[in-house]
Amino acid sequence: MDHFQFKDGVMHAEGVSLEMLAATVGTPFYCYSSATMERHFTVFRDAVAGLGNGAPLVAFAVKANPNLAVLATLARLGAGADVVSGGELARALAAGVPANRIVFSGVGKTRAELAAGIEAGILQFNVESEAEIDMLAEVAAAKGATVEIAIRINPAVDPKTHGKISTGGADAKFGIPWERLPAAFSQAAAHPNLRPVGLAAHIGSQLTDLGPVEDAIRKLGDLARQLEALGHSIKRVDVGGGLGVPYRRDQPAPPSPADYAAMVARATEGWPWQLMFEPGRMIVGNAGVLVSEVILTKEGASKHFVVVDAAMNDLLRPSLYGAWHDILAVRAKDARTVATVVGPICETGDTFADDRKMEDVRIGDLVAFMTAGAYGATMASTYNSRPLVPEVMVKGDEWAIVSQRNQPAAMLALDAKAPWL
Ligand code: LLP
Repeated sequence: MDHFQFKDGVMHAEGVSLEMLAATVGTPFYCYSSATMERHFTVFRDAVAGLGNGAPLVAFAVKANPNLAVLATLARLGAGADVVSGGELARALAAGVPANRIVFSGVGKTRAELAAGIEAGILQFNVESEAEIDMLAEVAAAKGATVEIAIRINPAVDPKTHGKISTGGADAKFGIPWERLPAAFSQAAAHPNLRPVGLAAHIGSQLTDLGPVEDAIRKLGDLARQLEALGHSIKRVDVGGGLGVPYRRDQPAPPSPADYAAMVARATEGWPWQLMFEPGRMIVGNAGVLVSEVILTKEGASKHFVVVDAAMNDLLRPSLYGAWHDILAVRAKDARTVATVVGPICETGDTFADDRKMEDVRIGDLVAFMTAGAYGATMASTYNSRPLVPEVMVKGDEWAIVSQRNQPAAMLALDAKAPWL
């Protein structure tokens, strides 16, 4: 459910017309609906509220959408943050996420990033290798700090999603193979500056089959019991994120937060540990659209091309994963056509939709790429020296630019001619 609805034939974000926004801020731009992300967060939080021991921590996966206004909106609702870089840590803190609700994940945190997390006093580091255990212990010792860690396991399950966003397979770079957990826990426990208190897993993203997640969660439970039998004391189990969202209006929706929570309830029955979740996409995916203008249309040998002013650098998912985003005219049209929607970048991969049955949009029309709130703006680049596009946040009838379009001159100013030129 989202708050992008048509009023008098024009798509609105809550009470704000996307046509008006386009005329005011220019295209392309991202537009987010506060009500949608607030609703998704509270639905998820409430669905998992009674699970595990004590209130679960729902740590929003900042990578899905690190915009400060997005993070601040979620922080106000009590969201924690799952961060994977010093940059994300700084954003979460700046947005008002309390340090004791921040978990630091990632397969290659640098010493500087570990130090930044320690200085901020975050809740927990999710450690992903034996080498990182020793590195974190060293950095913590140098700071005279004791830090709580969870060890991320590689549960060796097939998440049945796109290969590029699968993280739970035995050969994935993530986590420590689950069979080595007792040894890794002892290794961590031997360091006076580390307190191993948890286990974590995250098997992949855009998951539509809950079976593999359930397998991973049960594996976490078995391991936690095994570790307790060995004398370790477990406080928290982090079951990651990954729940899919509907990208296509014409296809069945993936499992809902209620379905997911029912599965987690089953898999964690009787657990004496606090649960942690790291949802990203399901909180913000449907809360954002990318609005673009049709520059022109052209006929190829056999294709009808619609060339828009957004490109793969603005929304990479179709090009990188072959991902589908519904494309709707901002001013709804009755006429239909079959179109190949492309951006202006000089690569054939700069294609948003191939031979798509859609509205017959023409020069000057606005289109909205739906479900672009997660892994949209955050994955943008300046390829072809295109400026990053602005992000607009809507709340009811109010709106604000929450990230500026960067200007070509500002981009150029970062470069310098070498002294010999
Ligand atoms: N926790 C960890 C450790 C993760 O690596 C991720 C996502 C999440 C949580 C959040 O997963 P979510 O709930 O959003 O599925 N760029 C790709 C998605 C990459 C996901 C990476 N990790 C895409 O556009 O589909």
